Amino acid sequence: MSEPLPDKAPPARRRVESVFSAEPDARQNPLPRANPLETLQILRDVELPMIAKGPIIRRPKVVGLVERTGFEARAVRRMQTIAGRYGSGPLMLSLPKNMATVLDPEHVHRILDASPEPFAPAETLKRHALKHFEPKVALISHDEERTQRRRMNESALDNNHPIHRMAETFMPAVREEAEALLRDVDAQGGTLKYMDLLDAWFRVVRRVVLGDSYRDDKQLTELIEKLRADGNWAFLKPVDKSGRQDLLDQLHAALDKGEPGSIAAFMRDMDFGSEDQPAEQIPQWLFAFDPAGMATARALALLAEHPQEMAKARKQIAAEGDETAPMLQQLRGSVLESLRLWATTPMILRETTQEVEFEHGVMPAGTTVLIFAPFFHRDDRNLDFAHSFSPEIWEEPRTRDDWPLLPFSGGTGICPGRHLVLLLTSSFLAEIISAKDVSLTSHDLEPGNLPGLLNNFALEFQLT
Ligand code: HEM
Repeated sequence: MSEPLPDKAPPARRRVESVFSAEPDARQNPLPRANPLETLQILRDVELPMIAKGPIIRRPKVVGLVERTGFEARAVRRMQTIAGRYGSGPLMLSLPKNMATVLDPEHVHRILDASPEPFAPAETLKRHALKHFEPKVALISHDEERTQRRRMNESALDNNHPIHRMAETFMPAVREEAEALLRDVDAQGGTLKYMDLLDAWFRVVRRVVLGDSYRDDKQLTELIEKLRADGNWAFLKPVDKSGRQDLLDQLHAALDKGEPGSIAAFMRDMDFGSEDQPAEQIPQWLFAFDPAGMATARALALLAEHPQEMAKARKQIAAEGDETAPMLQQLRGSVLESLRLWATTPMILRETTQEVEFEHGVMPAGTTVLIFAPFFHRDDRNLDFAHSFSPEIWEEPRTRDDWPLLPFSGGTGICPGRHLVLLLTSSFLAEIISAKDVSLTSHDLEPGNLPGLLNNFALEFQLT
């Protein structure tokens, strides 16, 4: 039996919210609706590969299959065909549950800006998936609970600062773990495999989040991975309550310890609101550092296959070498490009808490809203860099007037960990590429025609 959802559902109200000034005669119209065949095509080409790959933790075999078959590019083409037919949408699907897909760049911005009301991040399927390991996380909370938990996350992760206020204390972990990785690589004749990179990366993550004594606590990472694998099944699998409690107990203990230099130490000194649930927020961080590892490995692959961009990154490392925690914009841009080209959160979900007027009709309350990021990231009808590696597009902060590129979502629900991710991934990459020449041996990437998916699990490099 599936566990009931622990927190309150976002309230479904009847009032119409006018965040999109509708044409007067569209006020009472329903939105356009895909016919059953088109709905099936969207489910088959867009939803199915994403669910099969594993929404919460990736299944390596399926990722390999999707890479080989080119399903990811097919998903973007399907959305382009649908958008060509229906214009700006949003387009309701013909399903028993109200569901709509977003087709218009301006709608993306406005929906993400109007979160959590009337577009709540606490969407039903997401709540079922995340309750397996983080039932009280901000992302699936609502009302005052969400406000407090979001604020707590923003503060601990230093949401608005490219360089986290504790960056200086994080850098030794990055340097030491990269050095240890490179020693192992040397011992293996220069071969760097994805899983070795990920192991080293998670040693950094555990040290930064929980403290140095957690460096080798692989069991903690494995426990989260097990619970995330349950989360892939959402309501189809019962919650492993004892596993979840075990995880929470370990995180409470880490917060109590508050090891110097870690985020846990910083949190020990924070003032919490009554609903903050600090330990319950940490599984999301440990979970989300996994896609950060994927993005790091893919960025390394991109740099290895684009020598000019690699040279630019090395020049910047040399120029900023004296700073304790440098910005490394070219490497940050490379990680962002890796996330644009191969989004690790391809589907951003929202759920309407009330009816919402759009220009061409009204979206009912309780509608799941699907924003398929690759449709916008790889739209070669509108972007000349759609299939190229272009770190320069991230040199200036992107604004809501720009085309939506959403590696970290956007608007009021934007990922509060994004700067920390970019700080740690760019510094980790800098350690590798300033010590070694890197060639990608597992794949042959064609600049300007990059594939719809790059299987991170198969990545292999030769370091000399
Ligand atoms: C490459 C790595 C990451 C990517 C691509 C990423 C992306 C995202 C995206 C797209 C969302 C919005 C999800 C939604 O609206 O449903 C999100 C939310 C969030 N992320 Fe990240 N994230 C990453 C890493 C991290 C890390 C490492 C942390 C913490 C250390 C973090 C903390 C959070 C939190 C707390 C939320 C929920 C925010 C809220 O409730 O409003 N993320 N992230």
